[in-house]
Amino acid sequence: MCGIVGYTGKKQATPILMDGLERLEYRGYDSSGIAVSGGGAIEIVKVKGRLSELGKLTGGTRPAGTTGIGHTRWATHGKPSNENAHPHYSRDKKFAVVHNGIIENYLELREFLAERGFTFRSETDTEIVSLLLEYYYDGDVLDAIVKMSRKVKGSYALGILYADEADVFYAMRKDSPLVIGLGEGENFIASDIPAILPYTRKFIFPEEGEIAIVTPDGVTVCNGNKERVEKTVVVSELDAKAAEKDGYPHFMLKEIYEQPGALRKTVYERIKSEGIRLDGIRFDGKSVRKIYIAACGSAYHAGAVGKYFIEKYARLEVETLLASEFRYCDPLVDENCLTVIISQSGETADSLAALREAKRRKSRVLAIVNVVDSSIAREADDILYTRAGPEIAVATTKGYTTQLAVLYLLGLKLGHDRGTIAEAEYNTLVRELTEVPALLEKFIDDVNEQTQQLAGKYYPATDAYFIGRGYDWSAALEGALKLKEISYIHAEAYAAGELKHGTISLIEKNSLVIGIAADPALTEKTLSNIKEVKTRGATVIGVTNRPDLLRAECNDLIVLPKTHDALTPIFTATALQLFAYYVAASRGGDIDKPRNLAKSVTVE
Ligand code: F6R
Repeated sequence: MCGIVGYTGKKQATPILMDGLERLEYRGYDSSGIAVSGGGAIEIVKVKGRLSELGKLTGGTRPAGTTGIGHTRWATHGKPSNENAHPHYSRDKKFAVVHNGIIENYLELREFLAERGFTFRSETDTEIVSLLLEYYYDGDVLDAIVKMSRKVKGSYALGILYADEADVFYAMRKDSPLVIGLGEGENFIASDIPAILPYTRKFIFPEEGEIAIVTPDGVTVCNGNKERVEKTVVVSELDAKAAEKDGYPHFMLKEIYEQPGALRKTVYERIKSEGIRLDGIRFDGKSVRKIYIAACGSAYHAGAVGKYFIEKYARLEVETLLASEFRYCDPLVDENCLTVIISQSGETADSLAALREAKRRKSRVLAIVNVVDSSIAREADDILYTRAGPEIAVATTKGYTTQLAVLYLLGLKLGHDRGTIAEAEYNTLVRELTEVPALLEKFIDDVNEQTQQLAGKYYPATDAYFIGRGYDWSAALEGALKLKEISYIHAEAYAAGELKHGTISLIEKNSLVIGIAADPALTEKTLSNIKEVKTRGATVIGVTNRPDLLRAECNDLIVLPKTHDALTPIFTATALQLFAYYVAASRGGDIDKPRNLAKSVTVE
């Protein structure tokens, strides 16, 4: 949700800012802009539309100067337009600001500023920040930033330029991601590490409310009282290539193919000769009374699988809630509960708020997170990292399947510790889990061409219904989300048994139904639901490991490999990711950056 970048050094800033923005564009892409300072003035170039539009204006070189900030936007306050694009000047054009987040009290502050004679060039909340900086500036930029930050409420990662200070920019964060990159004679900021990984591997992570003064020769970090704070420098192990397409037409396809490798990294090191070892958790599974899982989107769908799995093998009640509901539904969370927050980015505003709500209610919080040192990781009591590597496509793929893997590990570990899973079943599941990466590798190769062909046949569909029971229902939720978000086909997931309670009235001749039947205990039940829609004229793609049972009722079949029923969502989801990918490709969508979406939803 909006990407920000900043550079100061000896090189020209514009090419570096543009390069960083390209890597951040997945965070928002309705407009973009850069500001470069030099000679006592700041020049801003900004425009509505994709980054390529900005590229046309800058020609890759304009404005000239060695210190600057940049932004790629996902609109919250004010429609996408040239005026609302960042950076935003102050009235006197001495300050320029880029911002990721939301200033919640912006209407009140707009009034405050209007009463003091300020006028506004945009409809954004961000402009309030640049105007407040001008209002509070009295010869000391740091002082103005501190005063501004005491006035604004909400979330922000900010990059700030001041025209009269050459070779310096300021940055600050509260509830929005920001990293500081340290180079040789040059320094950077960005919304995430991969954006500046080609330039440096050394990073500082500012805490909430900290302000960084960034110059080519060093970075000083202060707290909200202008006191200097010492920061630890972290060396990233991420491979710069991880954030490149590496020959694939889209990041999404690359990331689908990366899943076996990501699952290996997530699972293998945690399986020891004595069984599963989860170094990230320091609580006793026997003392947990109930688990709450809170997450958004695909991470919530992973939580739906986690509920069934943990309940079955650890015999612990699990409630999976949407993080956006958790924070407001007055959940019965207390110190006897464990709250599990699942998030690829570790920055999702609702998930972070759910974490804080759980802690407020004295629950221990375990984060299942991909991005190392993200806000959710930092605030949780225990962390289990998914080791998916950077995920750039807006639609998650490897982020989701590695979340499933961690939930399986967690469920098995809890079951083992609590003595609720039979040794033989535990050993079988552990073994089958370790076999998943190789099986998935082969499965992707087998199914890639078939899903492409199916997409060629079904891409004109206007609606699609994904049905399944148990784990298959959870996989249906994820399959429907993948299809709708990148192909823009209306897609819904239903627990197969629910169809008859209303939704089946939508089924008519040629309605597309994806019937998932991978759980052996439920295959026959789902088969009867498939028959019901077939009788009413639907076209059915079956997804199953029992082709013998489904073939006669389905127009097409995706055959899943034989694996433990609990592990099938990994395979089902992967097949449906590929199907969605190729449908979107056939429809000509912008697969990595679907309309209206952005990766890392840092606003409520
Ligand atoms: C869908 C998708 C989203 C995310 C959701 C949560 O493909 O990517 O639904 O799963 O926004 O994001 P994280 O996991 O970063 O909290």
